[in-house]
Amino acid sequence: MKPENLNDIVGSDRNHMWHHLMQHKPLQDTDPMVIVEGKGMRVKDINGREYLDAVSGGVWTVNVGYGRESIANAVRDQLVKMCYFANSAGNIPGAMFAEKLVDKMPGLSRVYYANSGSEANEKGFKIVRQLAAMKNGGKKHKVLYRDRDYHGTTITTLSAGGQAQRKDDYGPFTPGFVEVPHCLAYRDPRGADPDYGVLAAKDIEKVILREGPDTVGALCIEPITAGGGVIVPPEGYMETVDEICRKYGVLIHIDEVVCGMGRTGKWFGYQHFDIKPDMVSMAKGLASGYAAISVLATTEGLFNEFLAEPSDSMHYFRDISTFGGCAGGPAAALENMRIIEEESLLDNVNAMGEYMMGSLGELMDKHAVIGEVRGKGLFIGAELVKDRESREPLDESKVVGVAADCLKQGVMIGRTNRSLHGLNNTLCFSPALICTKDDIDQIITAVDNALSNLQD
Ligand SMILES: Cc1ncc(COP(=O)(O)O)c(C=O)c1O
Repeated sequence: MKPENLNDIVGSDRNHMWHHLMQHKPLQDTDPMVIVEGKGMRVKDINGREYLDAVSGGVWTVNVGYGRESIANAVRDQLVKMCYFANSAGNIPGAMFAEKLVDKMPGLSRVYYANSGSEANEKGFKIVRQLAAMKNGGKKHKVLYRDRDYHGTTITTLSAGGQAQRKDDYGPFTPGFVEVPHCLAYRDPRGADPDYGVLAAKDIEKVILREGPDTVGALCIEPITAGGGVIVPPEGYMETVDEICRKYGVLIHIDEVVCGMGRTGKWFGYQHFDIKPDMVSMAKGLASGYAAISVLATTEGLFNEFLAEPSDSMHYFRDISTFGGCAGGPAAALENMRIIEEESLLDNVNAMGEYMMGSLGELMDKHAVIGEVRGKGLFIGAELVKDRESREPLDESKVVGVAADCLKQGVMIGRTNRSLHGLNNTLCFSPALICTKDDIDQIITAVDNALSNLQD
């Protein structure tokens, strides 16, 4: 088979590929989508059709856009020189990127390399468990996670997942993971209270007290919930979460897998708030998808907990990630970060994010089906409802229809996807950090048309 023989490629895909998050029956009658090219904000499918990608590779990943030769060259040069060695030894881009990364994260100083968001989160969970065993007689081993947050796809990260529909059928789950409520004002009866942020944070304290503070080791949270519906924390929430965690000796693990590397207009989502994480996991935009790389960054204090006498064969972090030693990952991440800095992309995210929020706000005036628009930077959700008064969610099939209509118009948008029973009703937008007003206008026009086409 030759790559230019398109019919063969589509046939091989249909016959042999098992795609992610997809019901395959419809592929018996329709061709699978095969993406063959990307440049800037746009991708082309195997039939030559071009799309404007408003979700950065489907799952908020390609932050600096497609076709970046300088990243490809950095990876190529590194692979030719030294492709891989297990990370018990160092490599040059690994050390350089670690220093550059923590420079953007005051208070954090250690970088552990892995290769997916789930895996980086698992490292955090293992640190909590080992710390409990080494220092607390097995206590403080529990990890709290929030309703609607997502931390990954492995059984243990699903155990730490607040998206019930994602978890259905995959239990039994890892013990020691405990759910706390979310902070989505729009769907909380207390949402209009000016102190809602503090009230929602105190819900976490109630769970800590119920479980027993001596059993709770960490809280794992997304700074802005992504696939759970693009939820921006209300005022005072993160600051109160920080106070509560300090009060009970609960480590703060922030999952920046989506928000990290500029998506929200700062390097990291948590930096919009006054919260001091002990651990931060990141993946997706870290190298914009040009290499598979993830990181768990920690404080020096946490790292020091794992320092023991050289003769001690057990009390250090006995963890390994084979592909954490791929030197192409940090090489790509270094160049990715250079691009974000040199092209002032954080400024662009702030300016374009504001423009896009404003444009979606104007669509709200026209389409009553938009219940709420929320987000930060180029990370925006529009929750669709049957009725603004009752806030009854729009049926998932109609939300799917809106995204499909946009696709027909040549614009790829996202949506909450089989995550929350009855609440997969949020359209998601996360265009690359390079997007322009013209790109946003094209996205908005497609959504406007799709919402106008919605049937009652
Ligand atoms: C917030 C968050 N954390 C973790 C993950 C898991 O990352 P990965 O799919 O790379 O394992 C995701 C994936 O969507 C995510 O959205």
